[in-house]
Amino acid sequence: MKMQLSLVIPACVFLCVSLLGLPNAWAEDVSISAEQEKHFESVIRPIFDAHCIECHGPDEQEGEFRLDRRDAFLLGGGSGPVINTDNPPASRLIRSIEYMDSSLQMPPDGKLSDATIDHLRQWVQAGAPWPADQMKSNEEPKELTPEAVIAKHSDEHWSYQPVQSVELPPLEVFPSVDLTSYDSVGSEQPIDRLVGGKLLTRGMQANERADRRTLINRAYFNLIGLPPTYEQTEAFLSDSSPDAFEKLIEQLLDNPHYGERWARHWLDIARYGDTTGYIAGSAETRYPYAFTFRDYVIDAFNSGKPYDQFIIEQIAADHLNLTGDEKKNLAAMGFLTVGRRFMNRQVDIIDDQIDVVSRGFLGLSVACARCHDHKYDAIPTADYYSLYGVLASSEAPPELPLISDSNDSPEYHAFLEAKAAKKKQVDQWLEERRTKTEKELQERISDYLVYLAKSLPQYSAGEKFQCKANVARFGGQPQGDGNNTSLNQINRPNLFGTYCVT
Ligand code: HEC
Ligand code: HEC
Repeated sequence: MKMQLSLVIPACVFLCVSLLGLPNAWAEDVSISAEQEKHFESVIRPIFDAHCIECHGPDEQEGEFRLDRRDAFLLGGGSGPVINTDNPPASRLIRSIEYMDSSLQMPPDGKLSDATIDHLRQWVQAGAPWPADQMKSNEEPKELTPEAVIAKHSDEHWSYQPVQSVELPPLEVFPSVDLTSYDSVGSEQPIDRLVGGKLLTRGMQANERADRRTLINRAYFNLIGLPPTYEQTEAFLSDSSPDAFEKLIEQLLDNPHYGERWARHWLDIARYGDTTGYIAGSAETRYPYAFTFRDYVIDAFNSGKPYDQFIIEQIAADHLNLTGDEKKNLAAMGFLTVGRRFMNRQVDIIDDQIDVVSRGFLGLSVACARCHDHKYDAIPTADYYSLYGVLASSEAPPELPLISDSNDSPEYHAFLEAKAAKKKQVDQWLEERRTKTEKELQERISDYLVYLAKSLPQYSAGEKFQCKANVARFGGQPQGDGNNTSLNQINRPNLFGTYCVT
């Protein structure tokens, strides 16, 4: 689709002339704010790199148009400037990416995402600020940078798109379905309508309605993981009120087993375990208070804790200044701490924490970016190590915080007593060690004196030293002379048991 050369030259002549005569601040003014430059480099240029440069860059200039340099961009393409400063939305660049004209649709192989188009639209609206060219043309990269590949990916991947409300199929579309077989297809319930709408478009019929016995079984197993008793089943079967099922569901949601059943799913995500994984030898591998995290999760389900609160507490309950009864939420931090210990290798513990945070809350395996930019997801190693920095500068307190204020129980007093007894043992041991070490050090004073003496200049100058056995050490009995060869001396040759005087 290259333009004929004969066409290009007149076009360029026309263009250059019109540019020169343009009283256009936009074309001339290179000064843009630091904010604009940052935005251009982090948002706009990556879009061009990812979606346009292969055809409008150093290698190819389709339509005689380049999007890798400011000067070329200002010139526009074979058909003139692509930005209309008087009417930005009418700019050819914008019309082409919005697929407004069938003759110019960019990129040709598929429209950009709405979010991307919005970025470009706002950028053009703001006057298309483009920083002065830094690079000489012969230094331009031939391939997409890894950052550009990631930017392209993060733009397009379905899971990075913002949540949007979907349009429900209008009720009118439903009457063609046999409503007697599945009366909620046309119901007001949004989810039913979405499912029903899809069934319709696929030409499928809903299953027959479940009978009440099946229904109560499903409700029980799904919500509390246990079957209904005979009495519970009978009660439901004989309840003829129109909201019998709603009542049943409410009842099950109030059942404490509901939290136990559903906490299990979250505890799987939180890789919850009572133990630390392998530790050398026969060291204790249980986490003493792991269950407090388990109970926290169960309680979160049973009390209907909002999900955002649930997330915040698990990552940063220690920053919430919790008081009184709220302190029990500190147990949420078990999300980070009750993981494998990898023989206490800090880098691996943090890797595990990054993994649990990213997979748990983002549905992404960020941990791959520990060694290289993620191969399939838009996660550069820089992101991994940013997270690493956050976690590395956090620490688990050696003494776990109390998670309640009710300290007056007999168990608590028993605990305090046992703790005091242990502390006494530890203090005693420390005292014994101290005495023993002190004695040893005192006994070695002579060694140090000899060492000192020998390092004096007189010693190396050959002056005579007189060395005697250390009397104190051997209970007042001199043990040999300066050539002492007792067993101890072999351990510390020349120094043991003697002192020297000049
Ligand atoms: C696969 C190749 C390809 C990609 C990718 C591509 N273009 Fe193009 N572009 C072309 C071709 C071919 C023409 C010439 C079309 C014509 O003249 O009919 C063109 C022409 C244009 C023109 C008109 C230039 C002029 O003055 O005639 C604009 C503006 C443009 N492209 C913008 C973009 C933008 C913005 C992107 C990225 C979002 C993009 N293009 C991506 C192939 C591509
Ligand atoms: C401990 C470091 C490390 C981790 C963690 C890691 N990788 Fe890799 N990966 C490497 C190394 C090193 C290579 C290069 C191997 C070679 O080809 O010599 C590689 C290569 C690859 C390749 C082949 C790349 C290519 O261009 O041929 C893929 C795909 C890949 N890794 C995916 C992943 C995924 C997915 C994860 C997360 C589940 C992951 N890696 C986690 C170190 C790692």
